[in-house]
Amino acid sequence: MADKRRILITNALPYANAALHLGHILEYTQTDIWARFQRLRGHEVHYMSADDAHGTAIMLKAEERGISPEAHIAEMKAIHEADFRDFLISVDHYHSTHSEENRQLCELIYQRLVAAGHIEQREIVQPYDPVRGLFLADRYIVGTCPRCNAPGQYGDNCEACGATYSPMELIEPRSVLSGARPEPRRSLHYFFRLPDFADFLKGWVRAGHVPEEIANKLEEWFAAGLESWDISRDAPYFGFEIPGAPGKYFYVWLDAPIGYMAAFQAYCERTGLSFDDFWGRDSTAEVHHFIGKDIVNFHALFWPAMLEGAGFRTPTAIHVHGFLTVDGKKMSKSRGTFINARTWLEHLDPEPLRYYFASKLGPGIEDIDLNLEDFVQKVNSDLVGKVVNIASRCARFVERAGGVMAERLAEPALWERFAAAGEAIAEHYEQLRYQRAIREIMALADAANEYIAARAPWQLAKEPGREREVVEICSLGLNLFRTLMVYLKPVLPATAARAEAFLADTLTWESAQRPLLGHRIRKFEPLLSRVDRKQVEKLLEASREAAQPAPERRQGGGERPATVTLETFAQLDLRVARVLAARAVEGADRLLELELELGGGERRRVFAGLRPAYQPEALVGRLVVVVANLAPRKMRFGVSEGMVLAAGEGAQLFLVSPDPGAEPGMPVR
Ligand code: MSP
Ligand code: ZN
Repeated sequence: MADKRRILITNALPYANAALHLGHILEYTQTDIWARFQRLRGHEVHYMSADDAHGTAIMLKAEERGISPEAHIAEMKAIHEADFRDFLISVDHYHSTHSEENRQLCELIYQRLVAAGHIEQREIVQPYDPVRGLFLADRYIVGTCPRCNAPGQYGDNCEACGATYSPMELIEPRSVLSGARPEPRRSLHYFFRLPDFADFLKGWVRAGHVPEEIANKLEEWFAAGLESWDISRDAPYFGFEIPGAPGKYFYVWLDAPIGYMAAFQAYCERTGLSFDDFWGRDSTAEVHHFIGKDIVNFHALFWPAMLEGAGFRTPTAIHVHGFLTVDGKKMSKSRGTFINARTWLEHLDPEPLRYYFASKLGPGIEDIDLNLEDFVQKVNSDLVGKVVNIASRCARFVERAGGVMAERLAEPALWERFAAAGEAIAEHYEQLRYQRAIREIMALADAANEYIAARAPWQLAKEPGREREVVEICSLGLNLFRTLMVYLKPVLPATAARAEAFLADTLTWESAQRPLLGHRIRKFEPLLSRVDRKQVEKLLEASREAAQPAPERRQGGGERPATVTLETFAQLDLRVARVLAARAVEGADRLLELELELGGGERRRVFAGLRPAYQPEALVGRLVVVVANLAPRKMRFGVSEGMVLAAGEGAQLFLVSPDPGAEPGMPVR
């Protein structure tokens, strides 16, 4: 084997504003398999990730939930970490971009870029929401398309006719946040002078750090000419303030990749590793980033340029994958194919999915389809039918003979074939050709099954005096199974651990070169169970339900919902309720906790964002209208069991109440 490599591995950092879905799991599975493979080969691996915690979307999300951004991102981080852990993602340290390490590294890199003359300032004009008091990114503006008159189009392009425009060209532009008409406003922005790095980047991109097809794409961008990159945003913004520029914040995409370094920095403090060994200019370690095809510009242009400009080493490789589709189409909420990571885990195990992804992943950037029919069929036939089957067929004959494997290999040539396949399979993993690795492994599994079927130990076992032969055949069977588990260990870590317990052996890549002879095994326990089609159906059903749009508070003049049928409306259980008690919620400056009586003695607890407009005491005894059959929402402070209706927002909030005389429990229609 080659010398011991020192490898730092990262994933794209998921945004802290939403749950993880199977697209994220695809990326993390690809990365995790590579990390586990490198460890199995004996290399030094440090696998880092973090939540991407900054930006307008996250600020608004926290506001909508009535909690501080810090509380919101802490909660999301815990949820993301649990999801990754349960998908067996072996991240060594999971950090947050909203961390002291990241702040310091951002400031350091920025100041070095300033000192080297790579930062410039200029005023720009942007749409501003005068009601909410913030600048609006394109996706926060809607209006009528200036070309085809389609209503309800976003600020950058028209979904109806494909026109692209700037948001102020829309007819009747409106802020999605307040409904107000955005006004053009000037503001000073800070720019990173990307063109300073044009020659460096051209060389870097051509030096094999990115996949060929990405390099070709980047050449087109070089030809079109690089532009300076706007790295600042105005307050209010959830992020890091730019040193020496009060009210200006680093754009989330500046601090996000620096988050890779920050995670590693925090990990170094914990483990005593040297940060400079990995990030210093003359580092001999490897740095590998795994990302999706949508964020290539940030990783293959801005990021290496920033590192180069600030005197750090640049990445060894950017590995880019395509997008996940389900049953041939983009994940869709209405079809139930927008599947959250947690929803999957509630219905199915993680390993079958890891295996299925591996069987389809290659080094290219084409999309990867999760075909659910094919998934069930492939996982059952490959893993249960082929691999595990070898062990379950052979184990009992060795157990019957005292649980000790034979001293010699019944058919050395077959064992040799399995051992010899290791280098090619390793090279497939190394080059991210997982689908080819899996194909080779399954061809070996077929060969093992053919051997056992041909020798039929269960027949021989009936013939007197052939016990030894039976044990030798089955011991070879178990040795072949063991080799398959070595090769599959990066993909199926939990199954491999169960196989290790059964074989009383720790599997490393080298294990495939040394058979177990005269070795005592333990009792065979089932290693993996079949996937049932019904589980998949339940998963889709649950995903469809989870995707029902949350009845978000509508805001005056904002987007209007589409028409609903009377039947849909009748599904709402709207009832009069009386406020029995109200109190402020510590740590959430918008929330009040209400105790409500819904009639017939039924009591509910509801968290409502009323605090900016109401004193808790003023609400006690009041009648309100509640949505009584809203799915309970788990919040950091407890479960909210309904929603009270109110008009407006923030301090301009007005509770909806029936006229005097109404009673708690009366239906509202
Ligand atoms: N926060 C940024 C990344 C910052 S990295 C310094 C981001 N977050 S994300 O949550 O939107 O996406 C995280 C990763 O998941 C990205 O690499 C993205 O390409 C990937 N995917 C998101 N949806 C995906 C699919 N449907 N399929 C496969 N990968 C997908 O971008
Ligand atoms: Zn249009």
